[in-house]
Amino acid sequence: MKFDTPAGTNPIDQLTVVGKPTDRIDGPLKTTGTAPYAYERHDVVAGQAYGHVLGAAIAKGRITRMDMADAQAAPGVITIVTAETAGPLGKGKWNTAKLLGGPDIQHYHQAVALVVAETFEQARDAASLIKVDYQAEPGAYDLAAAREGATEAKGEPDTGAGDFHSAFAAAPVQLDATYTTPDQSHAMMEPHASIAAWNGDKLTLWTANQMIRWGVKDVAQTLNIPEENIRLISPYIGGGFGGKLFVRSDALLAALGAKAAGRPVKVALHRPLIVNNTTHRPATIQRIRIGATKDGKITAIGHESWSGDLPDGKPETAVQQTRLLYAGANRLTAMRLAVLDLPEGNAMRAPGEAPGLMALEIAMDEMAEKLGMDPIQFRILNDTQVDPEKPGRPFSQRQLIACLQQGAERFGWARRKPTPASVREGRWLVGMGVAAGFRNNLVTKSAARVRLDGQGVVTVETDMTDIGTGTYTIIAQTAAETMGVPLDKVVVRLGDSRFPVSCGSGGQWGANNATAGVYAACMTLRQAVAQKLGFNATEPRFADGQVSSGGHAVPLALAAKDGEMAAEDGIEYADLHKRYQQSTFAGHFVEVGVDAATGEVRLRRMLAVCAAGRILNPKSARSQVIGAMTMGAGAALMEELAVDKRRGFFVNHDLAGYEVPAHADIPHQEVIFLDEVDPISSPMKAKGVGELGICGVGAAVANAIYNATGVRVRDYPITLDKLL
Ligand code: MOS
Repeated sequence: MKFDTPAGTNPIDQLTVVGKPTDRIDGPLKTTGTAPYAYERHDVVAGQAYGHVLGAAIAKGRITRMDMADAQAAPGVITIVTAETAGPLGKGKWNTAKLLGGPDIQHYHQAVALVVAETFEQARDAASLIKVDYQAEPGAYDLAAAREGATEAKGEPDTGAGDFHSAFAAAPVQLDATYTTPDQSHAMMEPHASIAAWNGDKLTLWTANQMIRWGVKDVAQTLNIPEENIRLISPYIGGGFGGKLFVRSDALLAALGAKAAGRPVKVALHRPLIVNNTTHRPATIQRIRIGATKDGKITAIGHESWSGDLPDGKPETAVQQTRLLYAGANRLTAMRLAVLDLPEGNAMRAPGEAPGLMALEIAMDEMAEKLGMDPIQFRILNDTQVDPEKPGRPFSQRQLIACLQQGAERFGWARRKPTPASVREGRWLVGMGVAAGFRNNLVTKSAARVRLDGQGVVTVETDMTDIGTGTYTIIAQTAAETMGVPLDKVVVRLGDSRFPVSCGSGGQWGANNATAGVYAACMTLRQAVAQKLGFNATEPRFADGQVSSGGHAVPLALAAKDGEMAAEDGIEYADLHKRYQQSTFAGHFVEVGVDAATGEVRLRRMLAVCAAGRILNPKSARSQVIGAMTMGAGAALMEELAVDKRRGFFVNHDLAGYEVPAHADIPHQEVIFLDEVDPISSPMKAKGVGELGICGVGAAVANAIYNATGVRVRDYPITLDKLL
């Protein structure tokens, strides 16, 4: 189905199943521990051996010698894979560093060996007996020090409009401030894990992966085997946050280990390897300059961001939102990328906007204060309904003002005292903060197969994944709505590369695009069903398990009485989306208490008001947003990978040292979705919320802390030492 004109009225608009707060259809499997995750697939193939990954003990340099004798002789050891034994390997498109290093080492804990043994303990024990001699070379590990040498990254030119420098210099009110955000870890619950089994030259990987299609391609490219010889299976994933967008060493080494061992091999990365062997959100240094007239109109806005990555890596695109969020005739955004020899940086929940808004939305708060304006008023005054860099492009929907206004009313913003440190309750200094939330809505093609059987059961198959987001449920709702059957007549099967290629889970594009693909396949099936049941060209109605037209109604199941009916189709986008800017918006509100003596910050209330197209399932969407708000609170107050700047690795590589919020850290969270349908986004008229929820939260916390204390912290996380 080609989507090239705004969606008119369609079966989804009935909203008998879609749009209803619906429990997860996979919930019982999750809560009873019976949803099988990759590492737990003991049942799928016999004779599984255990692989243990050994990570490099230096960040940069060479292996000069590996002594395997003790490891090979250790009990239970079946085989050991290294770069030397593995033979020539390619590199996947989505990996910056090699997944199996040696003799050259590109980053700390880059995999250098996989020990395969009869048990997990034996594999781990033997791995500790491998003696590796290294010749270390000096590397660059400190972003601040490497900033000078940073250069423009490939494909990321500066953008702007007007003459930023002159307009900023001439502005009566100016802000020029620099903010920093640290490296962060996805810290998902389920580790990266895979089971690999070969059948001749055919490889099956049960693996935790957000993007099945990308994974197949990257495995093919790395192992130099045809894509059709690879099957990836990933029906349940215990969190991804971008860390599982790409195939990692667990999958590649399980495949290599299984080949070498001649039997299936399973590999899970232990927590330190998740931190230093996989990807992380890169640290940023962000300079923001805003110039405005005395009455608060922005005349110049500039955002520059510095981040680092391995050679040929990518920048953290922290300036993205600044291109689109506020009006202003004179603009500049620029990103500079430094070479760092830390583990590879890549996407983590709302890459770009999450750290970008942590800076921009403090800057907006600071600027409002300079102007003597309410920070909500300042944002409203500088709203834009068109892309400010390309004024011919309107936003398809943009309800930022409504988000901020409704949030202000709901949160009791009028009670906020503009003068910092003016509210005290016992030992607590109390303050409120606000920030805008912004994240783009990406459209990308997505396909599905839909089958109807003689019992009237509709089965949907697509290689789409559910990373805890609720995909199973919204896909079932979409198929139920379109085929006119109750939810319990729909079976959803996900995460298998044998199914039609979907958009996958990433960039908050999953909800809108995957359901649109399922909708397209259902519409194709409807046509076939209508024809089979003898209806004429006027589309009959599909509802209550019946197909009807005029007074004539036939059970849907009848169409499949002589055998199953099936249709495969997908959504493909023409250039409609290029004529409009599609984005999602939020207003984030936070109240904090700060202990006047110790500087301890306690969150007291959080509110997000979101405008993100049609909300397909308010219950799972709310779960996405409160989870993201929690992650935003972590980013504001605690999350930070500490860099060892001499040896080049992340020191706090476990969940004891890498702090994330616990229940006791999080107060009551409220989420409001504005009524919105966006006919430009897809036939679903939906967008995504999984990333929007984190965008802006950190700055709202920072601004609340400033309002409570009068201490402006521009360096995240805002730990208590920075407040004293
Ligand atoms: Mo997301 S960071 O694209 O999973």
